[in-house]
Amino acid sequence: MPVIKARNIAWCRLRAPDLDKMEQFLVDFGLVTALKTETALYMRGNGARPFIHITEKGDPGFIGFAYEAGTAEDLEKVAQLPGASAIEDMDVPGGGRRVVLREPNGYQIEVVHGMATADEIDCDPKMRRSFDPYARKGPARVRRVAHGVFATPIVEETLAWFHETLGFIKTDELRLKDSNALIGAFYRIDAGDEPVDHHVIFVNRNARAGMHHVSFEVEDVNDVFFGHDHLKTVGDYEHIRGISRHALGSQIFDYWVSPWDQMHEHWSSNERFNASSASHIVPIGPGLAHDSGEKPSERFTKQVTQ
Ligand SMILES: [Fe+2]
Repeated sequence: MPVIKARNIAWCRLRAPDLDKMEQFLVDFGLVTALKTETALYMRGNGARPFIHITEKGDPGFIGFAYEAGTAEDLEKVAQLPGASAIEDMDVPGGGRRVVLREPNGYQIEVVHGMATADEIDCDPKMRRSFDPYARKGPARVRRVAHGVFATPIVEETLAWFHETLGFIKTDELRLKDSNALIGAFYRIDAGDEPVDHHVIFVNRNARAGMHHVSFEVEDVNDVFFGHDHLKTVGDYEHIRGISRHALGSQIFDYWVSPWDQMHEHWSSNERFNASSASHIVPIGPGLAHDSGEKPSERFTKQVTQ
């Protein structure tokens, strides 16, 4: 039995030397500023979380991901794990408490509980219903943070830790067609009968450990397109991959990097899973293309933020 069954991803925590520049990228990406201090930037989506993205001021990098515990007792359970912090009060928008863990690659995993919700941000219906084409201009409307992806040389160990600690369960596993070697796996939240995303985490084999990307669900598929146009026209941002469609999870996706090479994804999908949905082994190798569109570039597959 896992220690707890986490309910959701809560935020990503990155580092960047210029919070104003990061804020501009994230606003253009579709997030909304929740709080900016001298040392940290908190950004939110349209959903009820007070924030879904933190940037600490410092050398560019990846600090870790946070996940939401279902109950206060769950927080006490993870605080008993070897190397866990004590339960700490959080001085962040929404308050709440956390326990800090380290996953096998050494990155910080915050398990959080008891945060206040924020008022949801109403979306202007004109953004998608108006016949005025100019009404669709602007950033994608981001609803929530949806998943985080690890690159790592220790795939099995990393997956086992997330399963045993936070209760994530396997959705799809990627194996080389010829050797059957495990390349990576998508794990989802175990919320019983409740429908959840295809994955809350993807762990992918790479020589270096770090964040591959952090991913945000947008309000609907139109946002993927007008978000793309916006990022393309307003700033000197690097586009990495998309717009295209992942076969696994049916996500219409688009990938961009921050000014410090931290990859951020927009996606929209209507495919959901519950705890009894079947898990599959997906063979990969030369000539096996599952996603729509062009094959992923080396720039995309080798991407790591350490
Ligand atoms: Fe993704």
